[in-house]
Amino acid sequence: MGEAALRILVTGASRGIGREIAQQLLDSGHNVAVTARSQDDLEDLVTGYSNSMVIVADSTQPKSAEEAVSKVVNQWNGLDVLIINAGDGSAAPIEKTTDEIWDKSIAINLTAPFHYLRAAVPTMKNGKFGRVVVIASTAGLEGEPNVSAYTAAKHGVIGLVRSSAAELAKHGITVNAVCPSYVDTPMTQRSLQAAALRTGKTFDEVKAALLSKIPGGRFLSVDEVAKAAISFIALPDQTGQTQIVKGD
Ligand SMILES: NC(=O)c1ccc[n+]([C@@H]2O[C@H](COP(=O)([O-])OP(=O)(O)OC[C@H]3O[C@@H](n4cnc5c(N)ncnc54)[C@H](OP(=O)(O)O)[C@@H]3O)[C@@H](O)[C@H]2O)c1
Repeated sequence: MGEAALRILVTGASRGIGREIAQQLLDSGHNVAVTARSQDDLEDLVTGYSNSMVIVADSTQPKSAEEAVSKVVNQWNGLDVLIINAGDGSAAPIEKTTDEIWDKSIAINLTAPFHYLRAAVPTMKNGKFGRVVVIASTAGLEGEPNVSAYTAAKHGVIGLVRSSAAELAKHGITVNAVCPSYVDTPMTQRSLQAAALRTGKTFDEVKAALLSKIPGGRFLSVDEVAKAAISFIALPDQTGQTQIVKGD
């Protein structure tokens, strides 16, 4: 990026998209705090980077976001960039979507982003600068069968992005969403394994069927999604955007 080092917090940085975003930001020389539940994976990610901080936390626990943001602000005297990436989902037809599936999906994909955003706004307002990027999904903008809880949560988080963008623009804070289709990550592997179990098909059959429905016929790489997310940091006039990333 070539500019001064920014103070950045990335959620869900232990693997997949979040890990790639954090890795690229560390490599660019920024101060990067990483959070997730898997301590070993986070420690492994930041090994060799003195400009880093590991915060082991479950994003769905009350106060988790507040405590993580406080740690960064106390150590680095502020927070410039918040990448809200931690998320998860499981598939089920509506009549088999239990309260547990529903609540878990809302907690990690909608309530946790709200808690992180709420915790970060005061320090960003103080600094008259902020960049918030939420890794949402194409499921935040359109509907597919058997993922109602995840889709509802991701639609909700897009609403959060749009409203907070309108509210915070006058403070120099932008809030944007990146909306990828399927990405080659552990989450997609888990979804394919679950679909294979549900349908009695093999993993490869389920994967081939999914790829045949995707424009471009391939999963996105974590690098493509990371680049889309990071690009918003340098765009002061872009806010409330829902940037779709597809492999075609
Ligand atoms: N993969 C896709 O096809 C795809 C497509 C569109 C959007 N997305 C979105 O992109 C984001 C990242 O997905 P991914 O594919 O990289 O998933 P992933 O490989 O499963 O990684 C998810 C990350 O979130 C963290 N996380 C999950 N639950 C957490 C919790 N309760 N507290 C703290 N951290 C938690 C995980 O860390 P720990 O388990 O260590 O806590 C991990 O670092 C998600 O928001 C997802 O919805 C994914």
